[in-house]
Amino acid sequence: MEDYYLDERGLASYFEAQWLDKVRESGFTEPLLANSKQVPDSFIASLFFLAAADFIDVGLSEASLAPTNLLEVGPALGRSCYELIKRTPTLRKVTLVEPSERLFLNMRKLLMESGTYDFPYIKGLKELASIEFDTSAIVGSCSHIRFKSINAVFDSKTTSDDFDMTVCLNVVDQCGEPSKLVRDLQARTRVNGVLVLSCSYQWSSKHLKNPDDASADINQYFNANWTKIGETELEYRFRFNERFSRLFLSHVVMYMRTG
Ligand SMILES: C[S@@+](CC[C@H](N)C(=O)[O-])C[C@H]1O[C@@H](n2cnc3c(N)ncnc32)[C@H](O)[C@@H]1O
Repeated sequence: MEDYYLDERGLASYFEAQWLDKVRESGFTEPLLANSKQVPDSFIASLFFLAAADFIDVGLSEASLAPTNLLEVGPALGRSCYELIKRTPTLRKVTLVEPSERLFLNMRKLLMESGTYDFPYIKGLKELASIEFDTSAIVGSCSHIRFKSINAVFDSKTTSDDFDMTVCLNVVDQCGEPSKLVRDLQARTRVNGVLVLSCSYQWSSKHLKNPDDASADINQYFNANWTKIGETELEYRFRFNERFSRLFLSHVVMYMRTG
């Protein structure tokens, strides 16, 4: 399967970063296969998704907000969405917009299509292995949610719905037109709703159409119609090879639309 955003190895990196702890919880205790000496799970899985959901949860409660619908743009394999569903009992409707077909199909298996599937992980420099994982517990805990999943690049035409909570994590520096993406996200966030944006500022000509669009601080996207609820810096780990991870620092901001 060709994919505009990532290959099977990229899928493996996302799967183990986002879901390895849940695989362990499901009873899979064997060490992951590796071509060299084992590494601990803490080197493989990323705590970013739990930390980001905790940050959002605190912001919602400080602002006394109880969102019923959520839009997440660029969710990859859906772990942040799952954590937000767990922490936000008022949520009933979730719209997920993911342009990578490979990520989109696997995200659906994890959140919406209960079953036992093989998911890839990194075994060695040029080698992947796979884990058989039953997603029914995860899907079951989201069964009160009406999901709408869209396999497309997000823009002003993707949806005409307005959302209580709009989330877009680590996407702006991976897309062609970040300012436009943020404007489109802002337009879909209703007044008194919140927009959560994060960025690790890895601007690259591979994605960016106009180099001047590389922001040094995502706070600059928000004008007087927005009130800051909070901001934080969270580590984001992503394994490329058995013993080679990249550790990013993701700047996360949360704003309420007030005008
Ligand atoms: C670095 S990943 C971040 C994934 C996830 N949010 C996370 O924090 O791990 C970037 C994601 O943005 C998606 N993406 C890139 N450009 C996009 C666009 N214009 N609209 C929606 N999603 C986009 C990619 O397919 C990918 O899932």
